[in-house]
Amino acid sequence: MRIFASLSLALLALASLNAAAQAPAAPKAPPATPQVSLTPPMGWNSWNHFAGKVNDKDIRDAADQLVATGMKDAGYIYVNIDDTWEGERDASGVLHPNAKFPDMKALADYVHSKGLKIGIYSSPGSKTCGGYAASLGHEEQDAKMYAEWGIDYLKYDLCDLRTDVMEKQAPNDKAEQMRLMIAAYDKMNKALKATGRPIVFSFCQYGWDAVWEWGPSVGANLWRTTGDVTPEWDRIYAIISQQAGLEAYAGPGHWNDPDMLEVGNGKLTLAENRTHFSMWAMLAAPLLAGNDLPNMKPEIKAILTNRDVIAIDQDRLGKQGRRVYSDGEVEVWTRVLAHGAVAIAVVDAGDSRYSTHPFHLRLSKLGLAATQTGKDLWTGKTVELTENMPLELTSHDVFLVRIDKPKLPSPE
Ligand code: GLA
Repeated sequence: MRIFASLSLALLALASLNAAAQAPAAPKAPPATPQVSLTPPMGWNSWNHFAGKVNDKDIRDAADQLVATGMKDAGYIYVNIDDTWEGERDASGVLHPNAKFPDMKALADYVHSKGLKIGIYSSPGSKTCGGYAASLGHEEQDAKMYAEWGIDYLKYDLCDLRTDVMEKQAPNDKAEQMRLMIAAYDKMNKALKATGRPIVFSFCQYGWDAVWEWGPSVGANLWRTTGDVTPEWDRIYAIISQQAGLEAYAGPGHWNDPDMLEVGNGKLTLAENRTHFSMWAMLAAPLLAGNDLPNMKPEIKAILTNRDVIAIDQDRLGKQGRRVYSDGEVEVWTRVLAHGAVAIAVVDAGDSRYSTHPFHLRLSKLGLAATQTGKDLWTGKTVELTENMPLELTSHDVFLVRIDKPKLPSPE
């Protein structure tokens, strides 16, 4: 036991040394006291499947399906309504939902009755990205209304604050524009806090202006690190690549958000779906499914409910994985987990099979001894890893292994 404990500590120390050497400096501002999202939020969001067509029934169906499919038991708790629920403000400034959402309080009650939580969407400008009424000048009023409805999660999407406020009020002054943006997020942060209700605050401003450096100081529990995801391998892989180096900013209560899941959408192959899901877990990313739940295929459900992969994402230590090395089209990422465990993901990003000269796994480059025993999280089988072992992965597939008791190289 003691040997394992000291090995684990040594591995942790090694990992943080490596991280400190390669990652940018940690954020200066202390993160907001985390009361919510101690692990990355999990749930479902309407946008990737329904976009502007979502209505009250779709949200109820999604809640029903999270329960019926076992996704709720696997940890998917938030049912998030994205853009296009908003109607008009009345004479007192109260924003009413549009005809697609006849009674938001009743809908929230329904979702809560299933043991789930409910999320909503707005923007700090006067209009959302979809052109619907947003919160500018009504932050306190909107936050209070969300709390009265029983909302548990707010996605706050920059959209036209940029053109309508930042560029108008401070033309040609980027520093002042940034100050205006941060102030706009902080205004809603304070309004949400004033309600006294724990509400996850999700920043959506596409990773501009190094949001990971200042987001937590104005209440962000998560912040988008990129533009929008699409259900295409090239886009998903581009997003994965953009996460390298951001690992220092994530932790309990404050997460990098590489956008919602596209698992089960578009023409993604099963290998691509597996890699997408595995890498979001390695990145300690929010797991917000965005697929058609009532018509989910069994193989997609199997990916989304893989408990071993979810356990990587939800690991209590909250340390985001990092890219350690790449060799041609193959990348190797590791994530340090609680109790000294470690996860390794090998991704074949190449467009054709890597076979005539298979990739060789270099455990020494990961700071590990030459032999390891772990679990392949997609086959469920025990695997022995050895230094320089050849690995053949099909195009866009992943080899994801958890090693609970990693062995370290013996000191020289
Ligand atoms: C932006 C966001 C998306 C979605 C749409 C809604 O594009 O990045 O995630 O919320 O707006 O209009």
